Amino acid sequence: MRFHILTLFPDMIRQGLEASIIGRAVDKGLIRLNAVNIRDFTLEKHGRVDDYTYGGGAGMLMQAQPVFDAWNFVCREVDEAAAGEKMTVSGEDAAEYGDAENRETQMGRPLRTVYVTPQGEPFTQAKARELAGEEELIILCGHYEGIDERVLEETVTDRISIGDYILTGGELAAMVIVDAVGRLVPGVLGNETSADMESFHGDLLEYPQYSRPEVWNGKRVPEVLLSGDHRRVEQWRLERAKERTAAVRPDLYAKYEVKQALIQSLTRNKRNHIHIMESLKGGRGEILYRNGEQLLVADREAGVCMLLFGSEGSTGEARTLPKKEGSKLTEMLSAAPKQTEWYVVIQEQLMNEMLAKGFLVWGKCSQYVYTQGQTLPVRFRDIRRLTPADLDYVSGHYRQEGKKYLDERILAGVMYGAFEDGRQIGFIGTHKEGAMGMLYVEEEYRRKGVGRALLSYNINRLLEQGRTPYGHVMEGNSASERLLEGLGLYKAGQPVWWMQKKLAIIDGVW
Ligand code: ADE
Repeated sequence: MRFHILTLFPDMIRQGLEASIIGRAVDKGLIRLNAVNIRDFTLEKHGRVDDYTYGGGAGMLMQAQPVFDAWNFVCREVDEAAAGEKMTVSGEDAAEYGDAENRETQMGRPLRTVYVTPQGEPFTQAKARELAGEEELIILCGHYEGIDERVLEETVTDRISIGDYILTGGELAAMVIVDAVGRLVPGVLGNETSADMESFHGDLLEYPQYSRPEVWNGKRVPEVLLSGDHRRVEQWRLERAKERTAAVRPDLYAKYEVKQALIQSLTRNKRNHIHIMESLKGGRGEILYRNGEQLLVADREAGVCMLLFGSEGSTGEARTLPKKEGSKLTEMLSAAPKQTEWYVVIQEQLMNEMLAKGFLVWGKCSQYVYTQGQTLPVRFRDIRRLTPADLDYVSGHYRQEGKKYLDERILAGVMYGAFEDGRQIGFIGTHKEGAMGMLYVEEEYRRKGVGRALLSYNINRLLEQGRTPYGHVMEGNSASERLLEGLGLYKAGQPVWWMQKKLAIIDGVW
């Protein structure tokens, strides 16, 4: 991911970020920082970039011209780099480099441009997750009394405040955003601590933690943490996290309770709703629309919105919706984050209404859920977490996803490989939105229990994190269906349609 920071103090940005974990990620090439000096673009003598405010008032305003030219310079550079890369990948390389198509989208869409300002929307973890989905992010820092509104209207897609106080300039706010977004980029925190591996108390404040010695200053580490009982430790941590959040941040706690209540009501039909439940439990899912039984949950990090249109009842059968409810779709969709490309629905009527609005069906799947909770035996000796060195093998054998996405999944620490005599023969992983998938076993090793072992292994890792394993199988893939059923996963009554927004709709209205 690349951050372009438009600022009057580029050195402050460089120095402020180079010493941190973000600095290390820059050295490793995981993220790139481009601090651009707005002053270099002024057409005024003596490098002037500010002037008096029309209508009077104290202080000076940053003028439109240098800001616009600096922004344009970055946009052009990004487009040229993308076009250049596209020209260098051709023929077989293009197929190898699966995201070549996505670059079209990147080029066709205005670059995400954040203006940091006390007048913006509050910066939250959800916003950080959403921005982490961008490949290029421009952050514009103001100074003096702000920036001429006209250039903001021309360039800015998001206005963000990092808190209800006034800083002398936007640089510290920009650095806060780079830090919070940067740590979500796969690989920046390392496998074990990656954002994907964070426990499921996503919406609560962190519980208290202790390190050696066992007794310090007469204070003992709570006994339960020494017990080695994983379940009790998790329970204790959840309780402390809840207590702390309720005491310090009643606003966050209220939100948590709303989500918990929704998860509870979705549990009545767990097989059909597991994708929404897991996203909410993981702290990634946000309820952006709820009106009676109609629901839109966005997982911004995965770039997916999940819709529900009334309950399916305990049998899992979708009931026919009256026309009146159908007409709510426009209202629901307008609550979705603008950039969302993927939509998941489990009701045929809803799928049809979305088709009528110009959405495309990418695929129809069956949803499978592992509800037993106990770990499974893994009858294969050498299964281990993959590293970037395994990327070529994975991308060479799994064509449904681009190389970049697979690289991210490996860096997130959620891809596992099976090895025989040190040679890789298959792999599996967990998708960004939480579903298991990307299963592959070499032809000569099929029907020998390798797929079963990989799936069991993946299920066990998810259970360790307190998650409920689930997966989507493309309609007609009966080998995968048999495998999942053989391991005790249950099939949901409703199919799952993965739908995609057409490029034309991304930038416009419905
Ligand atoms: N610029 C000045 N104060 C700010 C704040 N609180 N958040 C974002 N940008 C700012």
